[in-house]
Amino acid sequence: MNSAAPSISSAAPVSNPENCSNRANCGRTAALAALREADPAGKATAVRELYAAVLDGSLASHADLELAEPADLPGRPARPELVDPRKLKRRSMQSPEGRAVLLHALAHIEFNAINLALDAVWRFAGMPVAFYTDWLKVAAEEAHHFSLLVARLAEFGHAYGDFPAHDGLWDMCERTRADVLARMALVPRTLEARGLDASPPIRARLQQAGDQASAAILDVILRDEIGHVLIGNRWFRHLCDEIGLDPHATYARLADQYHAPKLRGPFNFEARRDAGFDETELAALVSLAGLEAEQPARPAAPTLSD
Ligand SMILES: [Fe+2]
Ligand SMILES: [Fe+2]
Repeated sequence: MNSAAPSISSAAPVSNPENCSNRANCGRTAALAALREADPAGKATAVRELYAAVLDGSLASHADLELAEPADLPGRPARPELVDPRKLKRRSMQSPEGRAVLLHALAHIEFNAINLALDAVWRFAGMPVAFYTDWLKVAAEEAHHFSLLVARLAEFGHAYGDFPAHDGLWDMCERTRADVLARMALVPRTLEARGLDASPPIRARLQQAGDQASAAILDVILRDEIGHVLIGNRWFRHLCDEIGLDPHATYARLADQYHAPKLRGPFNFEARRDAGFDETELAALVSLAGLEAEQPARPAAPTLSD
């Protein structure tokens, strides 16, 4: 690993492959089955059980298993209706209906985030076993976030599926399907990192509206998301080191090649530092934020924060 890479303890003990007598029933195969699960509650439960099984050693992830891609990815319910992001309306956080729309949008992000993490597990063969364990941990935490938001949404009299949503997040997953380096660069290090920036202003608006219960869920999510971006940074740098690539130039090249959303401030520098971005990367964001301050505001591109 690069000397500039963050220190991170592995998410979990590495399972012993000997414990998995049936190779077809390994953690990566189970991740693909969970990704295909259409029922959100069923998916969330499957993911939490899967991660628990990997932690207790009853399930192992086999790196050499090459799995064929089914045609029905990702499993998702018939609702929410997926629409163009520009058709989604923003509503005032002061009204319960407005907050329900926000909670629904966040739940949709978390549902997609479960799928994104599971996809990293089944799709990319040949990675260290700790890579699969890390992404199963992420999937389990995304499932927890989804469940917290859906429970809160129910207190507003709504369920997941009640409002339309967009499909921009799975789109980035598809674009990077053939390249684990691009996936690490553009999903955790770009989309999830953008969520670190977006969280404090959303939390502040919820608090202003007197909605402490929803604000408290945002606190849990931000804490965990720092860990997800840290995991993304860890594996991005691991892959760059293996191939002998400079991580900064490589990120810029991949962001351009895969049409990543442009980074825009305000940035959450503290969370980004905790998530493993190095001083060079943070300094680049400082200059970007300075340039933006001199330019008129533009609408933001869809990210894991939208
Ligand atoms: Fe999340
Ligand atoms: Fe995440």
